[in-house]
Amino acid sequence: MDLITQAPRGTQDVLPEDSHKWQYIEKTAISIAQDFGFREIRTPVFEHTNLFQRSVGETTDVVQKEMYTFEDKGGRSITLRPEGTAGAARAVLEHGLLNGVLPVKVSYVTSCYRYEKSQKGRYREFHQFGVECFGASAPQADAETISLAMLILKSLGLENVKLHINSIGCPTCRARYHEALRAYFEQHTGELCGTCLGRLERNPMRILDCKSPVCHEIAAKAPVMLEYLCDDCAAHFDAVKACLDAAEIAYELDTHIVRGLDYYTRTVFELVAENGLVVAGGGRYDGLVEELGGARVPGLGFAMGLERLLMVMEENGCDLPDAPTCDVYLAPMGDAAARACFALATQLRDGGVSVETDVVGRSLKAQMKYADKLGARYTIVVGDNELETGVAKLKDMKTGETEEISLEDGLYTTLYQKSLDRELAEVANLFSSVAE
Ligand code: HAM
Repeated sequence: MDLITQAPRGTQDVLPEDSHKWQYIEKTAISIAQDFGFREIRTPVFEHTNLFQRSVGETTDVVQKEMYTFEDKGGRSITLRPEGTAGAARAVLEHGLLNGVLPVKVSYVTSCYRYEKSQKGRYREFHQFGVECFGASAPQADAETISLAMLILKSLGLENVKLHINSIGCPTCRARYHEALRAYFEQHTGELCGTCLGRLERNPMRILDCKSPVCHEIAAKAPVMLEYLCDDCAAHFDAVKACLDAAEIAYELDTHIVRGLDYYTRTVFELVAENGLVVAGGGRYDGLVEELGGARVPGLGFAMGLERLLMVMEENGCDLPDAPTCDVYLAPMGDAAARACFALATQLRDGGVSVETDVVGRSLKAQMKYADKLGARYTIVVGDNELETGVAKLKDMKTGETEEISLEDGLYTTLYQKSLDRELAEVANLFSSVAE
């Protein structure tokens, strides 16, 4: 089959008619995170494979079967990033940011790659908005990170997403928990799937995450981590919950959250939409920086899946901005007018007005149809007569009203004033609807 005109399975194109929705979500998230002190970081799309083996963990599905790994021409093993945390941790370490003032707070919008079975909300290339905070050990940092994720969703109009939280402790208390889990699952070795039998030795907590119905049922009665937390981890979790309570952030304790990545310690959380899709996930990773060769610097963060977020927003009928339209369409008739319109367009664009004019050689009728399709707010027809007099008609495409306007001077000022008036009217509208 000829696949040249087909995007690879699990990938999607964002077409021009939808890209403004992505820009809106990304801009909202980045700007709210900025209010919390997070600054954007950009890291490479590929990293050395062992970065992910070390951080995400050898026993995870991500590392075992989902990474896009290849050898480059220099014989190095390279992997397309399956997530954003490892690259961010590598970058702050490499550039010595952790030797300066702490915490270091970074945010990112990145594409991620996982060779997963593609299905609704699960892709092989997907995008995340995420934040990472290095050097904050207090429980307030956990609550703050969670509240940031919640505020972003709220600002996007998603108020009915549920916050699920759990604590998976530290390596010390988790070792005791692993023993208890092994003892429990060993009673069921005859029923567990082949993959889980392997997990039993290396990382029994992964069994809690198994999608097979039989393993799932067995896991439902397994011991829970919360009962094995050491005193410090229990106190930390209690303090996180107390902060959430103080800020009236509702949550559900979900002892089954284990997360699919190995670097987590203590608090883990997921934000679950009404349709069951997990739109964001994160938690604390106090051992990650050390694992990568740095000092013992605590860390925490979350990432939200942008495809899932947009899908859930559309399903919930959340407000999304309209596609941008142009302020004015200049419709020339004839070659001289086309040159004049081009010169006018250049001048107007220079002042920040969005302008389109004919670049196809259409008839006037076809141009007006096109201007309508563009959603142009105003149109100006320029022919020989207008060139001679220097005066044209500005047509309001919404009301159909026209007014005379000078092409020589004042055009920019008039259009600028009109767009200003419109913005003021919108702000006034907004205030009056808030006041109601
Ligand atoms: P994650 O739970 O693997 O965590 O991914 C975070 C979010 O990315 C998920 O909640 C989901 O919305 C989205 N996502 C994951 N896989 C896919 C997929 N195949 N298709 C579509 N969306 C997907 C992490 O990646 C961690 N790095 C989050 C984190 C940051 N933890 C601490 N800091």
